[in-house]
Amino acid sequence: MSDLAGKHIVLGLSGGVACYKAAEFCRALIKAGATVQVVMTEAAEHFITPVTMQALSGRPVYSSQWDAREGNNMPHINLSREADAIVIAPASADFMAKLLHGRADDLLSLLCLARPIERVPLIVAPAMNREMYAHPATQRNLAQLRADGTVVLGVGSGDQACGETGDGRMLEPHELLDELIAHFQPKRLAGRHVLITAGPTFEAIDPVRGITNRSSGKMGFAIARAAREAGAQVTLVAGPVALPTPRGVQRVDVQSALDMQRAVQASADAADVFIAAAAVADWRPATEAGQKIKKDGSGAVPALAFVENPDILASVAASARAQSGALYCVGFAAESHDLLAHAQAKRARKGVPLLVGNIGPDTFGLDHNALLLVDAQGARELPRADKHSLARALVAEIAQRLG
Ligand code: C5P
Repeated sequence: MSDLAGKHIVLGLSGGVACYKAAEFCRALIKAGATVQVVMTEAAEHFITPVTMQALSGRPVYSSQWDAREGNNMPHINLSREADAIVIAPASADFMAKLLHGRADDLLSLLCLARPIERVPLIVAPAMNREMYAHPATQRNLAQLRADGTVVLGVGSGDQACGETGDGRMLEPHELLDELIAHFQPKRLAGRHVLITAGPTFEAIDPVRGITNRSSGKMGFAIARAAREAGAQVTLVAGPVALPTPRGVQRVDVQSALDMQRAVQASADAADVFIAAAAVADWRPATEAGQKIKKDGSGAVPALAFVENPDILASVAASARAQSGALYCVGFAAESHDLLAHAQAKRARKGVPLLVGNIGPDTFGLDHNALLLVDAQGARELPRADKHSLARALVAEIAQRLG
């Protein structure tokens, strides 16, 4: 996906070991369709050369406010006016202290100060030693930067170049990219709490065996990401899948349908929207053997009895909050044929205002899908596209219905 197509990013580097990650980040921005103008402080040039950044961005790097390449000799004005966003990665403690005071004694701080504040967002990715990050002066500066309208990204935790361990590492390039892409998405669900189920469930037969299904969880995870991009607080209840947690999403891992139901019940009261994208197993073994069921060599097979799992969606949809309209419920239907008729029937059976139909064999495990939205007004198709685009479109549809 060209998530940043048409966006022009000024990528500012201040001094820090994390400059090496800025090279990778620059590459990721270009791959996502952005054009990138790199601006470096003198300190940054001690860590990585402008040659590297020029090669990756395809543009000469700027570092001096006295750069005579600009016709009017005002790179701070020209570069900041062209930008859709200015991203400082890494943002050193010293550089942020400068920003905070409105100091402007090098090109990067100068163009941050000169940017049209209403139109060009300033996004900083702090990077420093854990003691520096935890220092009251730094924390005070971060709070003031936020109050001044700067978007201050979080930091990673772990091993640091200095040999210490703690908070202060710059986010990884893919995390920075996700943050920036999210920044440009319309905040249609700001202030809303969205609860989502995704993936299959695993119903244990004994400690080593169980039944499950082939749901990959990709659609549900894409919806979680899209909802977060739209400004929602997101809780994602995930069955056993090997997918990374979308940035900023609170994930609760579960195994069985009963676990999933408990996790959903724990969050449903605080949610404004519930999206059931999980492929919950319809049945579970009536009993779970405490020990592995052994083959005894006689040819006898175990007699497995099953009981029906609770319908998580239907029970949430029947709750007082859902019935009163305080909790908007969205269900999914994976069918093999007659999608419209089955989706309409399922919508009525589950008691939800919106049911999203898809053809199971055409989407299981794939990165693309096509959705059929069925509500009281009728049906609307979201044509085949990658799951992230579809998830954003679905989030927009839900936001519109919330009013
Ligand atoms: O009944 P069926 O599995 O076809 O319905 C699919 C929809 O119901 C999905 O939204 C799914 O997440 C939800 N569901 C559920 N609990 C179940 C079965 C399905 O929440 N036990």
